[in-house]
Amino acid sequence: GAAVEVDISALKPGEKVTVEWRGKPVWIIKRTPEQLAELPKLDGQLADPKSERKPSELTPEYARNEARSIKPEIFVGVGICSHLGCSPSDKFQPGAQPSLPDDWKGGFLCPCHGSTFDMAGRVFKNKPAPDNLEVPPHMYLSDTRLLIG
Ligand code: FES
Repeated sequence: GAAVEVDISALKPGEKVTVEWRGKPVWIIKRTPEQLAELPKLDGQLADPKSERKPSELTPEYARNEARSIKPEIFVGVGICSHLGCSPSDKFQPGAQPSLPDDWKGGFLCPCHGSTFDMAGRVFKNKPAPDNLEVPPHMYLSDTRLLIG
């Protein structure tokens, strides 16, 4: 499929845009400094915190880091749950919903069977979804132009 070019110059901290790539929703999220600061604290609660599973399918080499991204603040991920393919909902705010833990720091909740993911698309332990969300191949053409695919 064709690569998709996205201008992210208008994206503000805490915002997300969704583009379609190969028929899949791809999320581009500008994380806040607070959201980034939470990531290293969550490792013990995650199924695959270092993205070591299925590295060639789920996490390109350049995104195999704590933030799962090229630029720390910008997350690029495929918005499809690794369980049965539903699209998780944004739950960026702490305490976003009663079904989330009291210490929820933001991320995504799959509406189908309750899998939860952090702000880097990393899946929490003991959830139906086995793996982290996929990071698609991508690169920066300039500071504000992203090429997905
Ligand atoms: Fe997401 Fe089942 S499809 S938890």
